[in-house]
Amino acid sequence: MSGYEEINGCLHVDGVSLKEIAQEHSTPTYVYSASVIKNQYDALKGAMERALPADRQPKLCFACKSNSNIAILGYLRSLGSSLEIVSEGELKRGLKAGFDANQIVSTGVGKLDSEIAACLTAGIHQFNVESIPELENINKIAKELGKIATVVFRLNPNVSGGGHHKTSTGRKRDKFGISEDSLYKAYQLASNMNNIEPLGMSMHIGSQVFTVESFKAAFEKIPAIVGKLRDQGHKVTRLDIGGGFPIIYKDEKLLDLDNYAEWVRDIILPLDTEIIMEPGRYLVGNAGVLLTKVAYVKETSERKFLVVDSAMNDLIRPTLYEAYHDIEAVENRNAPKTIYDVVGPICETGDTFSTDRELTEMKRGDLTIIKSAGAYGYCMASNYNTRGLPPEILVHEGKAHLINPRQTVEEILDKEVIPDFIKA
Ligand code: LLP
Repeated sequence: MSGYEEINGCLHVDGVSLKEIAQEHSTPTYVYSASVIKNQYDALKGAMERALPADRQPKLCFACKSNSNIAILGYLRSLGSSLEIVSEGELKRGLKAGFDANQIVSTGVGKLDSEIAACLTAGIHQFNVESIPELENINKIAKELGKIATVVFRLNPNVSGGGHHKTSTGRKRDKFGISEDSLYKAYQLASNMNNIEPLGMSMHIGSQVFTVESFKAAFEKIPAIVGKLRDQGHKVTRLDIGGGFPIIYKDEKLLDLDNYAEWVRDIILPLDTEIIMEPGRYLVGNAGVLLTKVAYVKETSERKFLVVDSAMNDLIRPTLYEAYHDIEAVENRNAPKTIYDVVGPICETGDTFSTDRELTEMKRGDLTIIKSAGAYGYCMASNYNTRGLPPEILVHEGKAHLINPRQTVEEILDKEVIPDFIKA
């Protein structure tokens, strides 16, 4: 029993009934399937093993930002993953989840001083540098700490990728990476800095990249640049080709991983470097659901609403990116179908998970799941409308593990302070 499947009319995850999870932990609740994470990891690793020789396998650095619960990180580490981080907080998560510092790469367009210092002190594998001012700052901090920072430079390849314009990162107008010309300049500057060791380049063109040829177009820019850097006398021993692999939310055609791996083999492998990848969503997206309960069925003259107990504060993707998430009933799955708008209790019309969606008929108290919520779900949640964050459950081989308890409203309120000038 693995993944999500119906058993005796009720949806189960890795052998555990979602109804039981709701009874024990209430709703809304994030639930993750360990077996789906493992299958995804194995699929990516397997594609790479088929295409690349054993001694040239890529370092798979899970993008922590997509699901940063330390149990998920620890599980991926146990499968053999390394880690990509974007903040001091994510560094701390990675170390707490048991990653060695040299399995960690630090990316991001605005690395803060304390984060750079923490990464240097820990001894991470590399910084993916995004600008010359950032390079200068890393050099300065490394000097103060008596360290050498290993860096690669993030190329902005001017290739559009990403399922939504807000998650496309490789266009010239985007804030990410540096142009090819600046990359040569940055490498030259770096090679004269005492506390920097430049070793290569990186790129990440976007997330949920559907125009799969975009990956190829971006990769194809790399060999000439590496050649030129080497002609200039520079050492290029690492290439980080980023993340961005898509998953199915609705009826998307999946990226053929073997195809992707063959592009890596044909274009990147001959450059004879260490290869690094940064997959996030692909590993965890379809592993997670947001388990929720119907609070009310509300009918107006215009529409039929399922008002559920989760909201945009729990899962912001539909509101922020007009993202499609499939919704399914947990029980009575063969009931007749009706058209609903599925909405949360928050005071905004944008607090809508789906519009005009055909779902099985449901009533107050029924359970539903909002699917493909394992990536960029909980980690983007907020306390808007003073709603406590939902708990997270990881199901592994027939056992549900609470990996993050529900946040209470008291925990939110206890941190706030009324200063003395406000009279009672
Ligand atoms: N590497 C870098 C440098 C990144 O910025 C990202 C994602 C990744 C790797 C992982 O990308 P993935 O494999 O997960 O596509 N919140 C948005 C997605 C933002 C992606 C940010 N960067 C969403 O919910 O769709």
